[in-house]
Amino acid sequence: MTYSSNDEAIKRAGELVRELSEKLGRVPTAAVITFGCQMNARDSEKLTGILIQAGFSIISEESADFVIYNTCTVRDNANQRVYGRLGVCGGYKKKNPHMKIALCGCMMQEPSVIEKIRKSYRFVDLIFGTHNLYKFPEYLVNCLEQDGQIIDIWNEPDQIEENLPVARKYPFKSGVNIMFGCNNFCTYCIVPYVRGRERSRDPKEIIRECERLASEGVVEVMLLGQNVNSYGRGLENPISFPELLREIEKIEGIRRIRFMTSHPKDLSDELIETIRDSKKICRHIHLPLQSGSSRILKAMNRCYDKEKYLALAKKIREEIPDVSITTDIIIGFPGETKEDVDETIDVIRQVEYDNAFTFIYSKRTGTPAASMADQVPEEESHIQFDRVLAEVQKYAKKQSARFEGRVMEALVEEVNENDSSLVTGRLSNNMIVHFPGDESMIGKFVDVRLKECKGFYYIGEI
Ligand code: 5AD
Ligand code: SF4
Repeated sequence: MTYSSNDEAIKRAGELVRELSEKLGRVPTAAVITFGCQMNARDSEKLTGILIQAGFSIISEESADFVIYNTCTVRDNANQRVYGRLGVCGGYKKKNPHMKIALCGCMMQEPSVIEKIRKSYRFVDLIFGTHNLYKFPEYLVNCLEQDGQIIDIWNEPDQIEENLPVARKYPFKSGVNIMFGCNNFCTYCIVPYVRGRERSRDPKEIIRECERLASEGVVEVMLLGQNVNSYGRGLENPISFPELLREIEKIEGIRRIRFMTSHPKDLSDELIETIRDSKKICRHIHLPLQSGSSRILKAMNRCYDKEKYLALAKKIREEIPDVSITTDIIIGFPGETKEDVDETIDVIRQVEYDNAFTFIYSKRTGTPAASMADQVPEEESHIQFDRVLAEVQKYAKKQSARFEGRVMEALVEEVNENDSSLVTGRLSNNMIVHFPGDESMIGKFVDVRLKECKGFYYIGEI
């Protein structure tokens, strides 16, 4: 059955959930399990919003009546974890005949994955991909109405859906998609294949969403895109990312603006100046390096070399002194030698990153790097990985210590998990500070003295 609108489908899903509720003698439960990046986290808020509107009670346990896994496939270990969780979930389903299991997200855009699930995971009820998430209300109805596996994967998107219900994880901060997909085709990366070509959202829609969020009490927005620096290309009235930032800056109520991710190849001077001159844009730039070797960068199709990256990082540090710069690094790309890793370590020493995510190269079927000669043996990658990690940690410690003793504004996010007399706040530069406080402070800004740096976080006091 197809529905002309999502509202209509959600209403029908609501009727089915009520029927199930009568059968079970309790409110049916649903769990949304998320893997991967901030984009997936945001998509999961949409899935959760739809499930809540349909009448499910949301829990975090995979023994729920409806479980959906929002998957990631950027590295193979994410895939393996999904298969592992599915095994456990399949066990729950044997005990609960009403249970439904769904899969969506990046991993589902890979034909080999669909084949495997068709063959070996017959108990999965619903599978859809990244381009048709907005059809979830309709799929949910079909899944609740009938037995048997429903599979719907599209090769490309047909529209950007603007009006899905969303259940935000935090009342005071929110992700906002500004673009989808990626056109860069870094040779190791599967994202362009599973998320499709780059599409920017209409700036008016983005601003309307930010205004609505502000009116609901959101004070911090995180603008999300695979490469925010190319935002606006291909729109009817092209606009640049810095222009978009300046528009969002004008929205009353929004006090912090973050964004993720910046590709170094097209981070403009205009962006650096816009951040420098802004009171709201956070002092944090995530600038994935991937490798410090110009030879490897070329093979990765990153479109910059070591010198260009270093010059960019230097300019950022000069123009925005308090900024924290974080990065992503891949170890073990095909053909990478110890000398190439030395170059990466040299960049780490020169940029003095505030933090870095380090990954061992994972071969993704269908990407150009997967068929390159000289794949690096795993043991060798581990040796180099440890060298890089030690260097990253050294500078992360050094950088975090530079704010010790200062008073900085923190947005309180939660009561500390381990010690309920403390709350946890986030600074503009994305660092974390724990300090005495209580639940009533969540979502508020407070000035905190950073008394002691504990490596990657601070202990402070108001
Ligand atoms: N192997 C290892 N790391 C990868 N990343 C992307 N693709 C791969 C891969 N095949 C990393 C990059 C990217 C981050 C999100 O994931 O560092 O910036
Ligand atoms: Fe992948 Fe490169 Fe696009 Fe980032 S910019 S999503 S690493 S292809």
